[in-house]
Amino acid sequence: MRHLLSPLDLSTEELDELLDLASDIEHNPDKYKEACKGKKLATLFYEPSTRTRLSFEAAMLNLGGNVLGFSSADSSSVAKGETVSDTIRIISCYADICAMRHYKEGAPLVAASKSSIPVINAGDGGHQHPTQTLTDLMTIRSLKGRFDNLVIGLCGDLKFGRTVHSLINALSRYTGIKFVLISPNELKVPSYIIQDVLEKNNLEYKEVERLDEVIGELDILYMTRVQKERFFNEEDYIRLKDSYILDAEKMSLARPDMLVLHPLPRVNEISIEVDDDERAVYFKQAQYGVYVRMALILTLLEIKVSD
Ligand code: CP
Repeated sequence: MRHLLSPLDLSTEELDELLDLASDIEHNPDKYKEACKGKKLATLFYEPSTRTRLSFEAAMLNLGGNVLGFSSADSSSVAKGETVSDTIRIISCYADICAMRHYKEGAPLVAASKSSIPVINAGDGGHQHPTQTLTDLMTIRSLKGRFDNLVIGLCGDLKFGRTVHSLINALSRYTGIKFVLISPNELKVPSYIIQDVLEKNNLEYKEVERLDEVIGELDILYMTRVQKERFFNEEDYIRLKDSYILDAEKMSLARPDMLVLHPLPRVNEISIEVDDDERAVYFKQAQYGVYVRMALILTLLEIKVSD
């Protein structure tokens, strides 16, 4: 039995297979519509979500399976003090696979250690968000055609943004990648990622504060929201929340083939006017999230669909 707790739980070969499967699902959805008949997905969400929870649910429904779960800790026995370990033992009796989002870093890892069904990390605190990374990778591969030799700009809250941490980890395995890390000084990528991922793998990177000075160098601009819920005081959040606003003027400095990704939700960091720019692919990215989650469910349940 396998879990998905970090993007590195899949080798690059397995990742290629999963993205090939996701692409086949995108182009031949009917082939998969009964693949998970009789199977149940549990969504255990201790933190708010729109895309991740509902795209997991859509994914299982598209595969002919069923879903159950909770969308906030308050509506489950967590509110009475039940532990993650006990909860997953119970859910293992009710479902075949589960996706868990938790505000504590490492909670899905604890769940996996007690689980008799595959556990998928659907985001743990400011740590990792591996299925968002699968979504991001499918977007990049589908629209750029490769992972190698790309200049990737990551902009915004690089300290608390778990999608950024997972994406850096995943892309660190490809060649010719250069990261441009664009953030205020207080929201820089944590030093453990700089040391254990970027420097350990001899990856090229630079840290800058101004987006307009580097936007013209980028193949991909990955915008992120300042993560209000991870701040210890509101004053700091208010001071930093509008550090970056991508608008038409800044887009005019970018390459004609640069893609703008964002895990969403956005707050102010991308102006609405950018939505109509063909380089803005964040809504398409959310659609890819359904296909990769379908592929992930099939992979972890070891279900093969023949032509
Ligand atoms: N991208 C993402 O994780 O969105 P949600 O918080 O809505 O799930």
